[in-house]
Amino acid sequence: MSSAQIASKAVKQLDPEDIIVLKGLEKTLTRFESIPIEALKRITKLDAGKIEFRLGRLNAFGFVMKSQFGYTLVSSGLDALALHSLVRRGLISGMGRSIGMGKESDVYEVISDAGEKAVIKFYRIGRISFRATRLKRSYSKPDAHNQWLEINIEAARKEEEGLVRALAAGVTTPKFIARDRHAVLMSEVEGLMLHRCRKEDIENPRELLKKILENTRTAYLKAKIINGDLSEYNILFDGEKPWIIDWPQYVNPDHPNASEILERDVENILGYFERKFGEKIDQRKALEYAKGEKKSL
Ligand SMILES: Nc1ncnc2c1ncn2[C@@H]1O[C@H](COP(=O)(O)OP(=O)(O)OP(=O)(O)O)[C@@H](O)[C@H]1O
Ligand SMILES: [Mg+2]
Repeated sequence: MSSAQIASKAVKQLDPEDIIVLKGLEKTLTRFESIPIEALKRITKLDAGKIEFRLGRLNAFGFVMKSQFGYTLVSSGLDALALHSLVRRGLISGMGRSIGMGKESDVYEVISDAGEKAVIKFYRIGRISFRATRLKRSYSKPDAHNQWLEINIEAARKEEEGLVRALAAGVTTPKFIARDRHAVLMSEVEGLMLHRCRKEDIENPRELLKKILENTRTAYLKAKIINGDLSEYNILFDGEKPWIIDWPQYVNPDHPNASEILERDVENILGYFERKFGEKIDQRKALEYAKGEKKSL
């Protein structure tokens, strides 16, 4: 089971005091590698006996890790806090199947209170290296070792901004629903990653390519953002429209490398369509179109 699945199973069994202790550990995460019971007493205002009892439960759920010096929050504990909060806000009621697991994120289908399907994306940047670091370290030093928390929250914030700006400008992208910590909740696209589509799934590849470039142009001109990771892996096709996803690395047109980044996005897409479908559009023309220097393709 993945860390988020463990969290979703356990989240329903958490008591208010479990949450208080988890939040206490979260607060100190970037300051301490491992937090002693004494410090937790101050933060949570609970007595040592209660804290130990709660830590025992949290340890059994896999939300904290114990060392000789104390306890630290691990990523499934952070998942639990995010899920707990989204459940309390009445936004989700259950977690479904995993729909994407990569280096930087885990994506799941979720069910809303109203019974509708949505998607939750948990950021996991640095998952491997941070785990290795944690195993090597022992005692609490206020340095960069637990930065994974902030880095992942920042990525989720950035994705939120990207989604909201792109959608408001008319880009075909999932609808942002909510964010909590490192988790982004958005509408589900009923489509297949472009890279997974077979040739016969796409009736008119040239039309599809044009629609992708049109979205790139809308994002650039109206939302004033460049996706920055545009490729066949970040486009979903629903049989009709291309959906642009995955925005945490977006840049504004006044970014010092904006030109190169936009050029790379356009190049990736043109290259893919040429390789897979033999569809060719001149790169210079496509770029001028994306930047609004040309009215049509
Ligand atoms: N709103 C959505 N609706 C449907 N599927 C989605 C949605 N968002 C993400 N996915 C699925 O999850 C996969 C990963 O999502 P995304 O590209 O946003 O994350 P990522 O950070 O690129 O993950 P990875 O590290 O695997 O590259 C997508 O390729 C897609 O299959
Ligand atoms: Mg992606």
